[in-house]
Amino acid sequence: MHENNFTVETMISMLEQRDITAPINEECNKFNIKTGDIVIDYGCGSGGYTKKISELLGENGKVYAVDIHELAIESVKKKINKYQLTNVETVLVKNINEIRDTASDVIIAIDMFHMVQDKNVFLKELYRLIKKDGTLFISTHHMTSEEVERIILDSKLWTIQCEIDNCLKCIPLLK
Ligand SMILES: C[S@@+](CC[C@H](N)C(=O)[O-])C[C@H]1O[C@@H](n2cnc3c(N)ncnc32)[C@H](O)[C@@H]1O
Repeated sequence: MHENNFTVETMISMLEQRDITAPINEECNKFNIKTGDIVIDYGCGSGGYTKKISELLGENGKVYAVDIHELAIESVKKKINKYQLTNVETVLVKNINEIRDTASDVIIAIDMFHMVQDKNVFLKELYRLIKKDGTLFISTHHMTSEEVERIILDSKLWTIQCEIDNCLKCIPLLK
């Protein structure tokens, strides 16, 4: 097996274990998700958040579970089958253009911003995907809040409304 694949496989298997015990349900409360919303779980990993959000949205809503790695997408697909998550669609980052402009009410990017190579390009892509009255939650895992805040504000595309736990709640500047 390729070394990089091994690392990703380890990460996904650790996330799958974490999904069993982590307080994801409570954590999702802060995203203020409403029935029927369109949500993007960007950097979805094993889909722990995707599953809970899928349940909150009901059948008229939709979650796009997006990840850069095939193994993450495969793990989410297993959850879709196991729990019959009919409102979840998986998208590999290389196919991100399948999601149309301004498609989403809420985007979450949890424990992944530190991994993103070009953070400006990433923030621009999220800006493309959000509705003008939509909300973005970026967690500050493995970085300081100040570092993440500076990058977001420097993009000149987003403003920060507040920090809830370890998440920055951002809204898009004029669209
Ligand atoms: C530590 S995991 C967190 C997964 C999930 N958000 C959670 O908290 O359970 C980080 C995930 O982000 C993905 N990732 C890293 N860089 C990415 C990028 N540029 N675009 C999309 N996904 C990315 C990784 O493949 C991995 O699945």
